[in-house]
Amino acid sequence: MDPEAYIEKSAEQIDKIIDRYFGGGGTELARASAHLLLAGGKRLRPTVALLSAEAVQKGGSDAAIPAAIALELTHNFTLIHDDIMDGDSLRRGVPTVHAKWDEPTAILAGDVLFARSFEFITLSGAPDNAKVRAVSMLSRTCAELCEGQHMDMSFEDRDDVDEFEYLEMVRKKTGVLYAASAGIGAIMAQGPAIYADALYHYGLAIGTAFQIQDDLIDLLAPAEKSGKDRASDLREGKKTLISIKARNKGIDLKPYRRDLSDSEIDGVVTLLERSGVIREVREVADDLVRSARENLAILPESEEKQLLLAIGEFFVSRGM
Ligand code: IPE
Ligand code: IPE
Ligand code: MG
Ligand code: MG
Ligand code: MG
Repeated sequence: MDPEAYIEKSAEQIDKIIDRYFGGGGTELARASAHLLLAGGKRLRPTVALLSAEAVQKGGSDAAIPAAIALELTHNFTLIHDDIMDGDSLRRGVPTVHAKWDEPTAILAGDVLFARSFEFITLSGAPDNAKVRAVSMLSRTCAELCEGQHMDMSFEDRDDVDEFEYLEMVRKKTGVLYAASAGIGAIMAQGPAIYADALYHYGLAIGTAFQIQDDLIDLLAPAEKSGKDRASDLREGKKTLISIKARNKGIDLKPYRRDLSDSEIDGVVTLLERSGVIREVREVADDLVRSARENLAILPESEEKQLLLAIGEFFVSRGM
């Protein structure tokens, strides 16, 4: 099956569950924490979790459903806080939580989703020892995520960040949540530990590639397509593989650290395309997806394994 069609179908099912739990309104804070959740999103982390569960144990995804929702809640917590940190006003085509409400409400809305992630793991039908392992993996993941976000923010004030440091930052801010999605799916399905480990490393590689593609989308895709502020990374002085490779070729992006018009952004894109930066960045993402394939080699053959492989390819071709 085509991965994009599969992802869409999976997202519809996940949307229904999220709607059941979070669509009921409630207090102002409950509505603020449900705002982004109900605005859609690709639901890639729960989809990866459920496919991973099936890939290690046929029928294993049933016990993984609440944990899959937990991963989407964690993701939405990070998005709400990330939009405050990055000063963005558009996400999933709707105003960000701090733009629609205010920063204190957005901080608390994120905290609510962070807390409820752990509650959702406990709601799953897996045995307690599997839930304890999943809670442990998710809490370590959240701590790493914060480290990654802290690196991302602190890099804004530096001009000497290298590709190695960038990759470590991205592994932490984005890779580990995909790693935990695949790993927790496998744990909830009670697959062998070596499969859970292989899936964790697959998730780490495709998640890192996913962030590199997100950085390309930030620059190349119109806001109408991405649903997010365009060139936010340029405006904020983010250190991405794009900006690092540009700097190494003598291209100074500092003058673009401000609000930019679409035609100004198009000018930067032309410069980066001509100098080969965009192609080189794509090659790094492609290499990561290739390495992710190797991680899955030990898994038994199944339709779900093939879909996981295809999703890796989709991660680096999406969104343009
Ligand atoms: C955006 O994630 C944040 C990053 C880690 C780059 P997604 O692109 O998965 O966002 P949604 O969930 O589809 O909105
Ligand atoms: C965010 O990276 C990663 C998170 C852990 C939230 P970005 O700041 O690039 O994500 P977007 O582009 O705002 O979605
Ligand atoms: Mg951001
Ligand atoms: Mg950010
Ligand atoms: Mg981004």
